[in-house]
Amino acid sequence: MIIAVDGTLASGKGTVARGIAKTFGLAHLDTGALYRAVAVEVLKAGADPGNIGAAEDAARHLDPSRIDQAAIRTAEAGAAASIVAAQPGVRAALFDLQRRFAEQEDGAVLDGRDIGTIVCPDADVKFYIDAEPRIRAQRRWRELVAGGSSVQLEDIARQLAERDRRDSSRETAPLMRAEDAVLLDTTHLSIDATLAEAVRIICNKTGAAPRT
Ligand code: DC
Repeated sequence: MIIAVDGTLASGKGTVARGIAKTFGLAHLDTGALYRAVAVEVLKAGADPGNIGAAEDAARHLDPSRIDQAAIRTAEAGAAASIVAAQPGVRAALFDLQRRFAEQEDGAVLDGRDIGTIVCPDADVKFYIDAEPRIRAQRRWRELVAGGSSVQLEDIARQLAERDRRDSSRETAPLMRAEDAVLLDTTHLSIDATLAEAVRIICNKTGAAPRT
């Protein structure tokens, strides 16, 4: 069983995807982490994230088992990830890795921006998770403040709008809802309630039974 979870930044898609994976005993891949890791390598090498050669090279040599989880979670890594992710060569280099993950025997949950449209168009169930920009900016701001950053909510809201624009307007694999994706709006729904709804939909559509 393959479950595709796409959505906007700070919509809750990562938490929902992890929850689905745990509930059904499936492997989970956060594909945004791959783009972030490529961006971190490019920045570490002192190159510009828009430098096509540097970003493609980093994507081709990426070792997913050695991703530095702390380094990829900064606001700088996120902004640079959105720039490297717009490059077709980077997307092509990461495609096979994501496909292989999806095709493992016991099934998988992948979350990102183009899972239901490009990486796994044949997924058993597809979700598109979104929330109003103001709510998403507040969530991301709280996360960063809790992590010790002193950032302003207005700056986060501006960065989020810029990331949304870049992710949705790029030519290759832009962020968009697959026609057959179920929309879950988390503006007024807690993450727990969203996960419960996603689990209910998966059970109905596939006949799978939760393990937890
Ligand atoms: O979900 P995230 O914030 O960790 O993603 C970081 C960036 O990577 C985001 O700006 C868009 C890009 N991305 C993508 O283009 N395709 C994916 N499947 C996942 C992430």
